[in-house]
Amino acid sequence: AHYDPALAAQIRDLAKAKNAVILAHNYERPEIQDVADYVGDSLGLSREAAKTEADVIVFCGVHFMAETAAILSPQKTVLLPDLAAGCSLASTIDAEQLRAWKAEHPGAVVVAYVNTTAEVKAESDYCCTSGNAVEVINAIPADKEILFLPDMFLGAHVRRETGRDNIHVWMGECHVHAGIDPEHITRTRAQHPGAEFLIHPECGCATSVVEAMSAGAVSKDNAHILSTEGMIKRPSQTHHDTFIVATEIGILHRLRRENPTKHFIAANDRAQCSYMKVTTLAKVRDALLYMQHRITVPDDMAARARTAIERMVSIGG
Ligand code: 13P
Ligand code: SF4
Repeated sequence: AHYDPALAAQIRDLAKAKNAVILAHNYERPEIQDVADYVGDSLGLSREAAKTEADVIVFCGVHFMAETAAILSPQKTVLLPDLAAGCSLASTIDAEQLRAWKAEHPGAVVVAYVNTTAEVKAESDYCCTSGNAVEVINAIPADKEILFLPDMFLGAHVRRETGRDNIHVWMGECHVHAGIDPEHITRTRAQHPGAEFLIHPECGCATSVVEAMSAGAVSKDNAHILSTEGMIKRPSQTHHDTFIVATEIGILHRLRRENPTKHFIAANDRAQCSYMKVTTLAKVRDALLYMQHRITVPDDMAARARTAIERMVSIGG
């Protein structure tokens, strides 16, 4: 199941032969990240999918990400190596639930986090990712009511950052990030005083860290709420050499590889997304060999979702 140089070489040969690009999320297994052409966060992956010249996109991530790529590049073949790569957060709301919520707030602008299904995006006005959620909200006139979905912790973060009180937040959560609690932060802070915190806004602990910053218990220079790609960039921008990382632990591979002299500690070393780990080298090889599993989105749904996604891709982050 682990690194197999012959298999990795076979994948690179197949990708070349089929004019395929391999995209991998920062949470994927190390050997998947190493075989990919591009590794990044949801926003970066969407941008790569939109601009690639390849005929085939092998998406090593979860289902909604492959759908987003299929919407942005309908003429390309988008493959998800294992259809079991779901997302507990995206599953917290479907199109019918969103339509009912919209009916309760006529005229509200709907902002959907990218971790949503295509049918939910098709019912939304804007998409955003953790990398540009605040910028997206700021692009909407201040007097407009907003329905923000599906993550309540990211919702609380954008409410706090934008200072708007007309944002209604769907009460969804990601089981992995919700499991990174304030206690994990207190414990790791005691073990590594002086370490800098890198915190994903989906985390259950994000609010308490910001409160600690406001109360002066944690200095503003010592804690940052960031998307996964923001976390990758941060270590080279500071003199700090130890970081406590509050997100899915797959990100530690890239953090350590790109910053070999710095130290990275997981806030919760059990924060693992099993959906991100179903993709293995053997499944990526089979995806290329058999052109499986093709992800498509019906044209009318894709057209409605595309406007929202294109706004996300073009705004900030
Ligand atoms: P980003 O990579 O956009 O920060 O998102 C994290 C995540 O949970 C994706 O599933
Ligand atoms: Fe979904 Fe959470 Fe896994 Fe990200 S880490 S893919 S939000 S279940």
